[in-house]
Amino acid sequence: MKNIIERIKDLKLKKNAIILAHSYQNIDVDEVADFVGDSLYLSQKARETNADIIVFAGVYFMAQTAKIISPEKKVLLPNKKAGCLMADMINHDQMVWFKKPYPNVPVVCYINSTASVKAECDICCTSSNALQIVKSLNSPRVLFVPDANLGKWVESKLDGVEVITYEGNCPVHNQVKPQHILNAREKYPNAKILIHPECNPSVSSLGDFVGSTSGILDYVKKSNEKQFVVVTEKGVVDRLKRDYPNKEFILISKNMICESMKLTTLEEILYSLENEVNEITLDEDVRKRSSNCIEAMLKVSK
Ligand code: 13P
Ligand code: SF4
Repeated sequence: MKNIIERIKDLKLKKNAIILAHSYQNIDVDEVADFVGDSLYLSQKARETNADIIVFAGVYFMAQTAKIISPEKKVLLPNKKAGCLMADMINHDQMVWFKKPYPNVPVVCYINSTASVKAECDICCTSSNALQIVKSLNSPRVLFVPDANLGKWVESKLDGVEVITYEGNCPVHNQVKPQHILNAREKYPNAKILIHPECNPSVSSLGDFVGSTSGILDYVKKSNEKQFVVVTEKGVVDRLKRDYPNKEFILISKNMICESMKLTTLEEILYSLENEVNEITLDEDVRKRSSNCIEAMLKVSK
């Protein structure tokens, strides 16, 4: 009897399927994944692939994004309950209400949002290209939803741009306080501190590097340093420990776990691929409008 990993690999070949996995997933998912990375990288892969089926080991908005840009493909989310707390903080009506007082101000939408929210925005961004996207608009004022922390971090990096933010956040990253970083500096004076921009800017501003999950992984790859304090979800530290056994990685807090990201199991991946269940579907009008927002981003961020 073949083991679960072999069965998933066989099914991928048989069905011309690929598996995209976010770096916060349980690390055993990497055994079957074709691509592992951050939101931008995975959405680029979803667009490029010739596969008939995409199994998204991630959270709902990621799988939905894959469907928006690759509507002809079957996109499966192995665990239907894998949502994103930040994406759930803004719905379509709240989006419309938020932008109403600013009719001529461009609206940037963090990719951690639903299709009906993206459909109301001009351009999408991820944590790795937020700065580049806001800059590309050449506008003195920009609306930014739903992550206030990322929006305010972008504002702090640009001269003369006001970023008007919606009050959403990621509860996993938002729990980190400046004191956590100050304590880590004292305890690990030689460590580099790497921070995800979903943390509050009062936290990000204390880091040696601020970047997306892939940005953090890349920073370590290029660095000769030996010790790192990592301020993002635990999955990134798990992968760093696996890939660099001679370096030391300290997770800023044991609470840095995104429960939704940990829901997907190999068994569920096998089940969804075998039975082609938990397919992402979208209203075509919403899909088209949200696709404009994502395509606008992909044009700027190739
Ligand atoms: P990345 O774009 O860095 O992958 O971030 C996605 C996310 O959900 C972080 O919480
Ligand atoms: Fe959403 Fe936060 Fe989980 Fe990322 S870590 S998927 S922003 S809840």
